[in-house]
Amino acid sequence: MCGIVGYIGHREAYPVIIKGLQRLEYRGYDSAGVALLDGDLNVYKKQGKVATLHDFAKDKPLGAKVGIGHTRWATHGAPSDHNAHPHVSNSGKLVMIHNGIIENYAAIKTELTQKGYTFKSETDSEVFVNFIEDIYQNTLVDLAEAVRLALTKVIGAYAIVILSTENPDLVIAARKGSPLVVGLGKNEFFLASDATPIIEYTNEVVYLDDQEIAIIENNNLTIKNIEDVEMKPYIQKIDMELEAIEKGGYEHFMIKEIFEQPRSIGDCLRGRLNANEGHLHLGGIQDYINKITNADRILIIACGTSWHAGLVAEYIFEEFCRIPVEVEYASEFRYRNPVVGEKDVVIAISQSGETADTLAAIELAKSKGATILGVCNVVGSSIPRATHAGSYTHAGPEIGVASTKAFTAQISVLAMMALMIAHKKGAIKESVYRNLLLELDAIPDKVAKCLDLNPQIEIISEKFKNATNFLYLGRGYNFPVALEGALKLKEISYIHAEGYPAAEMKHGPIALIDENMPVVFIATKDGSYEKIVSNIQEVKARKGQVIAVVTEGDTEIGSMADHIIEVPAAHEALMPLISVVPLQLLSYHIAVMRGCNVDQPRNLAKSVTVE
Ligand code: AGP
Ligand code: GLU
Repeated sequence: MCGIVGYIGHREAYPVIIKGLQRLEYRGYDSAGVALLDGDLNVYKKQGKVATLHDFAKDKPLGAKVGIGHTRWATHGAPSDHNAHPHVSNSGKLVMIHNGIIENYAAIKTELTQKGYTFKSETDSEVFVNFIEDIYQNTLVDLAEAVRLALTKVIGAYAIVILSTENPDLVIAARKGSPLVVGLGKNEFFLASDATPIIEYTNEVVYLDDQEIAIIENNNLTIKNIEDVEMKPYIQKIDMELEAIEKGGYEHFMIKEIFEQPRSIGDCLRGRLNANEGHLHLGGIQDYINKITNADRILIIACGTSWHAGLVAEYIFEEFCRIPVEVEYASEFRYRNPVVGEKDVVIAISQSGETADTLAAIELAKSKGATILGVCNVVGSSIPRATHAGSYTHAGPEIGVASTKAFTAQISVLAMMALMIAHKKGAIKESVYRNLLLELDAIPDKVAKCLDLNPQIEIISEKFKNATNFLYLGRGYNFPVALEGALKLKEISYIHAEGYPAAEMKHGPIALIDENMPVVFIATKDGSYEKIVSNIQEVKARKGQVIAVVTEGDTEIGSMADHIIEVPAAHEALMPLISVVPLQLLSYHIAVMRGCNVDQPRNLAKSVTVE
């Protein structure tokens, strides 16, 4: 989720804030805004770039020594001027910026509406600031205490900074799940999502921990936790370069995003899945649930990595929903004359929401009467606006051209969609359903375990960085993972790589096998395990070099492969979320060792908006 900047001190706040927002631009966003408090409260906010905001604000009253700024990555309410932050409370006395997602905002909004509150935006954040106001106005506590009480009741992730027109010497900030840093200057304080907006003014910072509240008043910093216990600020000195901070200390955005997957999958499940209670709900498709459960066919349309996610979804939907599924390259679908009708449901998958071929395919299917659902990462982008309904992946901005966290977030949403539909149809046994919910809930931790394999995979990468060809082989749910692994390698290392169904080898590709052909098998324990063991033996018999991704503890393949990568076990339908991670890491390290531009590979764009 995007960017936060706050300032209070002896300088003009606006230049610090607007420059700080520019420093946070790398995080990707759709709108920006600033609030300045110098007795008067001035709020300027615009959809679009920080430059758009600056063009709008630069000739307006900017004098103030305290202010807050925000770059938004929309989760609730499309990108627009009115949905941009900061948000002002109904009384006009509180103004707040928020990174994150408030899961229980709808219930809070209902309660506030019944009390007479009104809302200018569709965001959860505007509900949040009015919730704080309601507590502040109805209890005899100070603002900091009202904020703390509100935080004990909201569910979700937040990094907030709030100002009050009644006390321009007071800044209150808090975080849970979204980052927030306090910079300590000489008679001045800075707040930001990371250190990039702060580092040119001071290298002394306090990284707030989850459920901590920072209260800056009269040039003094107090930190409390949500239980109202005062905490001693742990002051650190930043010695990172600016560029390193943008990537969170990682060398590239791609590796940062690979390592974000436990969080991004968690954010994707957040507020939708409560496995212990057997609760699963995707609000975005609720109005079309009957249409989907009664569909003659589900058509999945996408490109590239999103198409691979669609292939995984095909297996999941057919297995559990018993609805026929076809997966189509959007670029092919749109130019042939497909047979599509009103009993068809189309699921369009796209990280960017701007892929021209996918957009065109949607319009074609829509013109033939199909119902169109979207699975996208960018709220308010063109594809979600062209669909009838859908669910966002909430993976946060994906900067690296090679898609990683978006892929696993797409599969997470699609798995939830399939299970919700299967359960609605009564096509899945309750015990199987409940078990799958628990399995899905456990995925973030299992992905985190896969990330511990990074050093081992770096060593394997060293051995294959000069290969000229790779084969990736898998069966069943792992076949699309083979395709995805091959795409990752070729698009960032420029090594030719092919993904194939393992059983298909004998129909030609096995002629390619010799001692110079590395073959990656995704061979985790599932229904076709014995078959893929045979495929590995066939490759070894022809001197192929085998790298095998296996279920942890598997000793059978361990005795025949050249390199073994052990991953945690999970239900086979969810294994792609786990087995893809080592392949992402393998392609990343090989590309780095080959000196490739990992985040911006040659010839590629993050979003293919051309045909
Ligand atoms: C994947 O790593 C590539 N960047 C590319 O194949 C991408 O998945 C494809 O262009 C589709 O993009 P979209 O998900 O934004 O529609
Ligand atoms: N959920 C809030 C919104 O949609 C904040 C999103 C963000 O983190 O930028 O406005």
